[in-house]
Amino acid sequence: MQKILILDFGGQYNQLIARRVRECNVYCEVKPWTTPLAELRAFGPVGIIFTGGPQSVYLEDSPRVDPDIFTWGVPILGICYGCQLMAHLLGGKVTPAQDDSAREYGKTLTYYDTSCQLFRNLPAEGVSWMSHGDYMAKVPDGFSLTARSDACPNVAIADEARGFYGVQFHPEVSHTQHGVDMIRSFLYEVCRAKGDWTMGDYKKTAIARLREKIGTGKVLLALSGGVDSSVAAALLAEAVGNRLTCVFVDHGLMRLNEGDEVEKAFSRWDLNLVRVDAEARFLLKLAGVDEPERKRKIIGEEFIRVFEEEAKKIGAVDFLAQGTIYPDVIESGAGEAAVIKSHHNVGGLPDFVDFREIVEPLRMLFKDEVRQLGRELGLPEYLVNRQPFPGPGLAIRIIGDVTKEKADTLRQADFIFREEMARAGEDKKLNQYFAVLTNTLSVGVMGDGRTYDHTLALRAVTTSDFMTADWARIPYELLDKVSTRIVNEVKGINRIVYDITSKPPSTIEWE
Ligand code: XMP
Repeated sequence: MQKILILDFGGQYNQLIARRVRECNVYCEVKPWTTPLAELRAFGPVGIIFTGGPQSVYLEDSPRVDPDIFTWGVPILGICYGCQLMAHLLGGKVTPAQDDSAREYGKTLTYYDTSCQLFRNLPAEGVSWMSHGDYMAKVPDGFSLTARSDACPNVAIADEARGFYGVQFHPEVSHTQHGVDMIRSFLYEVCRAKGDWTMGDYKKTAIARLREKIGTGKVLLALSGGVDSSVAAALLAEAVGNRLTCVFVDHGLMRLNEGDEVEKAFSRWDLNLVRVDAEARFLLKLAGVDEPERKRKIIGEEFIRVFEEEAKKIGAVDFLAQGTIYPDVIESGAGEAAVIKSHHNVGGLPDFVDFREIVEPLRMLFKDEVRQLGRELGLPEYLVNRQPFPGPGLAIRIIGDVTKEKADTLRQADFIFREEMARAGEDKKLNQYFAVLTNTLSVGVMGDGRTYDHTLALRAVTTSDFMTADWARIPYELLDKVSTRIVNEVKGINRIVYDITSKPPSTIEWE
């Protein structure tokens, strides 16, 4: 199998690059910049991508790579920091942008030289996503300028004879028009990739790795009934059969009827399934807590304590498996990336976990890849296509402290929203939609009387990777219907707002 090496310099979007490469049916691995050169060479890549990163190349302790890498005769694509590093190491000059106009952030109109292989057959101009404060004051010998913006003359550089390409923008981010085409062009036209990798290959490799790791041991899987843990269950069931026990913890913060639905869906299969009713203990631990990160950590820890207790009942369970996926990892602050929020199964884990090892077979995949793998494993569409529901559940959709009463109110409102979305057929067009109970109280008037009740926010987004998302333009008539129904049918809510922010700068969940 042909391989692409992604050399990681610590940016937010590094796994997104990997995901784009896989999307082009080419196998790749992300390795840290500290990996010894001999190991990188032994990997045998047909092409290399240098990722972005938060540092400046001219600082003494910034991430580097041995310049020997440029003598291998393997094509290299440098993205953002990776582009600047390539320029810096090959004799160019990178400096802080002199004035704010050369510092670029966000969507930027960019003009491409379409005679360059990277941009061939693409429109000569389009929007690209920039995020850089440094500037290539001098490009290295042998390189030419292949793209510019209004503020910056050297947005992309290339030395086509040697197969070296650099872009200051992020082609891996969906905001860059034709970004995937540029990556595909690098893979297929420059690196001569054949596209010989599929999700079927991923499945085979993942099963073989799980068998090797688990041996004859027993595994407990944290099952929420969501897409990720369901796919992890199917993968593990295939790898270790009935040495797997799936534990579904109902923490009392599930959506309406969800506990029963999950139990019903999974009892159809030949799986060891345990349902634990843990509402009282979760609500007790959360009482009076309103800080989002504290809530997440409390929930993360309580899940583990329940799993440990269940593992003791089964006996001799070495491994705890989780359906962690890549966005959970990166947002929890992996490597040098900032903590955005501690996903309950990553940053929310307690320091001590009483299992020999945590197994996370989906840790490097994005949501849509997990769905593809689910199909590959023969999971039914209704499970594969479920909208995501976060492990901490309604606790992070109730702003402020969590009580059973608030959870019940939100459950009813959320159910109405989902019911109306499904009736209107909007559910098929959107990737996630839900209600949030805010801690804002406001004055209303109902039946000639004054009310002073909660404001409910509706959130609906479209996204493919859940790392970036756009707010959904759902019809006003539908919003109107949902609003009228919720205010009439759910006690304690007298105002409805619709969230019209994208991610970034927002996140999908409110906490
Ligand atoms: P954000 O809010 O970070 O959400 O834009 C991205 C996706 O992740 C889900 N999410 C979680 N899933 N545990 C989970 O299993 C968590 O702690 C968690 N926090 C956010 C969120 O619903 C969205 O799909």
